[in-house]
Amino acid sequence: MRILVAGGAGYIGSHTCVALAERGHQAVIVDNHCNSAPTVLDRIARLTGGAPEAHRVDLRDAAALDRVFADGGFDAVIHFAALKSVGESCVRPLDYFENNLGGTVGLLQSMQRHGVDRLVFSSSATVYGEPEALPLDESARLSVTNPYGRTKLIAEQIIADACAADVRLCAISLRYFNPVGAHPSGLIGEAPSGVPNNLMPYICQVAVGQRARLQVFGGDWPTIDGTGVRDYIHVVDLARAHVHAIEALAGEGGSAPAAGHPLHGHTAINLGVGRGISVLELVRAFEAASGRSIPYDIVARRPGDVAEVYADPRLAEALLGWRAALDVDAMCRDAWRWQSMNPGGYAG
Ligand code: NAD
Ligand code: WQD
Repeated sequence: MRILVAGGAGYIGSHTCVALAERGHQAVIVDNHCNSAPTVLDRIARLTGGAPEAHRVDLRDAAALDRVFADGGFDAVIHFAALKSVGESCVRPLDYFENNLGGTVGLLQSMQRHGVDRLVFSSSATVYGEPEALPLDESARLSVTNPYGRTKLIAEQIIADACAADVRLCAISLRYFNPVGAHPSGLIGEAPSGVPNNLMPYICQVAVGQRARLQVFGGDWPTIDGTGVRDYIHVVDLARAHVHAIEALAGEGGSAPAAGHPLHGHTAINLGVGRGISVLELVRAFEAASGRSIPYDIVARRPGDVAEVYADPRLAEALLGWRAALDVDAMCRDAWRWQSMNPGGYAG
């Protein structure tokens, strides 16, 4: 299949382009590089044996996007393109609404104009807000605690409305839990700009000596050891799930799932391992994988955090035939390989 991958130069998108190529699919990247380096394209080329077709286009530029679709002959679209910092979204909410929602609407409109009727969308476990019960399955109450989360929830709703209005359009919103790790080659990985917001990239930067100590946000949560518990998922497993989703949407005969098929219309599916890991458990696993010590201080809780989040991942297995295969040791080993081979990210 020929797949338009919006945001394909980013962290999860780049791994997905590699996973698509491994299955014989052709990824065409559309990215404005607001949060990615064009050099990632060379790395993808080294992993796949050929440079991916790529277009520097903002999803909100309808004319430029239409040109890509007009030349494309796409079977499906995967939509990763978004701003993703929770903290930044609280400071610049309108930029988040404009980019994440404007981009999603623009993409859906271009798909409609060009008769492309299959979409896989990057959603997030953030749409569950503070869990009422664990594990979280897809029927859990939805709520948001910050503007970034609101963009994900509203984007899911926009996509569902578009599917309801057009019987041919089928979409899967994949609700990622906590993606971490990197490709085992060490050639592609997560390259945050500035101070990392997320735990694993922060640990990696402490391990290579770029940051002195980790701050552990809260040691008094009602969890196994007092630190926050999350469902970390290896980015290679996550990338593979996108290939399963695209192939599931292709169904038999290559047309989008018809009425009565479980994937007809809009479907939300969790992507997690189904197991919670605490901050200190992750620190210890990383120390074992890297041989480096990670000094830390336990400090105040971070505003907006919750104690514990982990997925019920069974729907992904039932509908997509996918389950996570890589454990926390692989996550740490591969994150460390990427960080030690590329201490400055794609810049070197
Ligand atoms: P990323 O920032 O590495 O990748 C996003 C890519 O989209 C970047 O290359 C960026 O340049 C591009 N982009 C952003 N806005 C664009 C626009 N208007 N037009 C064209 N390109 C644009 O992020 P990621 O970690 O790979 O996340 C991918 C998706 O998954 C995002 O939608 C994110 O919200 C979602 N998600 C990420 C996580 C996570 O922890 N990384 C968790 C849950 C959901
Ligand atoms: C994990 C745990 C922190 C940093 C975020 C977004 C979510 C999704 C994934 C996009 C928590 C603790 C962290 C640090 C720490 N993104 N921590 N010290 O908050 O679960 O999820 O990324 O959709 O929307 O909110 O991930 O990696 O920031 O935090 O102690 O320096 O690590 O308190 O318990 P989070 P995280």
